[in-house]
Amino acid sequence: MMALSMDDKRSVPRHIAIIMDGNGRWAKNKGLPRTAGHKAGGETFRRIANYCRDIGVKYLTVYAFSTENWKRSEEEVGGIMLLLERYLTEALRDMEKNGVCFRFFGDLSRLRPKLRKLCEDAEARSSQYHDVQVNFCLNYGGRDEIIRAARAFAADVAAGKRSADSLTEADFDNYLDSAGVPDPELVIRPSGEMRTSNFLPWQSAYSEFVFMNVLWPDFMPEHLDEAIEEYHRRERRFGGA
Ligand code: FPP
Repeated sequence: MMALSMDDKRSVPRHIAIIMDGNGRWAKNKGLPRTAGHKAGGETFRRIANYCRDIGVKYLTVYAFSTENWKRSEEEVGGIMLLLERYLTEALRDMEKNGVCFRFFGDLSRLRPKLRKLCEDAEARSSQYHDVQVNFCLNYGGRDEIIRAARAFAADVAAGKRSADSLTEADFDNYLDSAGVPDPELVIRPSGEMRTSNFLPWQSAYSEFVFMNVLWPDFMPEHLDEAIEEYHRRERRFGGA
């Protein structure tokens, strides 16, 4: 695996989105409970978020919990929520040092009150930081996001604020959870699965997808370099003509 060349470091994608997949299999391979896989996945997230900030990525969007993930055992769901609570408590404490701005995509109304409050506080208190913006997708599903946006637009029409036929693609963007965030140039899915699983379907319409054969807890900065190199190879091939 090669490190990024200086040239590549200057032109890293502005926005990278990642499906953090493979925690369960990683734990199983080691004979550990699934929650141990998520804990290791949380450590990987910290490592990759810091690395993204260091190489100049401006937006990192991660799939932390999907609308489908509620079907998992109570123990596993509770374990993931606890990891997120611990992480956000720590992030709120170290905010100034880290320079990270947080946003949350998804329907937060279903989260337990403690986690929801941490999300709201993190979003409100970090908006002044600009080194890198981390968008956590929590109770997120792309179709659910589009339905919530359609309902919000319909409510504006019913209230007489908008006319139904005035809607453009750019306008609709503003009703999505990702309002104001540029679309990701690169979407990465580790763990060998070749699906997009309802992750950012609207925003990734023109993204490059890189699927990798490594489980998320084993994902290192070198794997991110590799994905960025693949992205550049495709850009050079398709952008040159
Ligand atoms: C998918 O792997 C991963 C999740 C459903 C949870 C992702 C959550 C984290 C990485 C922890 C969040 C905490 C922080 C601090 C970011 P999987 O369980 O579906 O893996 P499998 O396909 O191998 O079973």
